[in-house]
Amino acid sequence: MIVKQIDAKDTYPIRSEMLRKDLPLDSCHFDGDNEDSTFHLGAYIDDKLVSVASFYLKNNEKFSEEYQYQLRGMATLHSYQGQGLSQALLRTAFPIIKANHVKLVWCNARISAIGFYTKVGFEVASEEFEIPGVGTHKLMFKYV
Ligand SMILES: CC(C)(COP(=O)(O)OP(=O)(O)OC[C@H]1O[C@@H](n2cnc3c(N)ncnc32)[C@H](O)[C@@H]1OP(=O)(O)O)[C@@H](O)C(=O)NCCC(=O)NCCS
Repeated sequence: MIVKQIDAKDTYPIRSEMLRKDLPLDSCHFDGDNEDSTFHLGAYIDDKLVSVASFYLKNNEKFSEEYQYQLRGMATLHSYQGQGLSQALLRTAFPIIKANHVKLVWCNARISAIGFYTKVGFEVASEEFEIPGVGTHKLMFKYV
């Protein structure tokens, strides 16, 4: 397995399949995807991109830190799940975020993924809330 920095457009097929099934392809384009402060990571197995995650310099008002990163678009293709790929992406991302003098990472976690985020050290910071068309989430955070 190799982790590489990738372009926003490289994330779209996996986002579409895993996170925006049955929604139009442009629902996979997220605000800030092409900002200079944004970065996208991908895990490759046998030259195939199988897991992605994206990181945006974006504050959530629930937290007081001056600078914060938002984790979005975290997804691993079904047949590659449970092999530590998402964890490997985060292990690569956290030092990059830290090097940018940012200590807090937050995400809107799908209910079905809360177990994953907890496992990799995130904590819950809200009650459940709905993201229309996407599903039920909780706010989670981690200091890197
Ligand atoms: C959630 C998701 C990104 C995890 O990716 P993954 O590559 O399978 O995760 P990893 O293999 O790195 O998992 C790391 C650890 O978390 C555990 N884990 C993974 N998903 C889990 C879940 N849903 N609940 C509980 N634990 C989970 C793994 O078993 C592993 O534990 P281990 O270290 O004891 O072996 C993946 O299941 C996925 O793409 N889901 C669909 C899209 C999605 O919901 N994304 C999140 C949007 S908020």
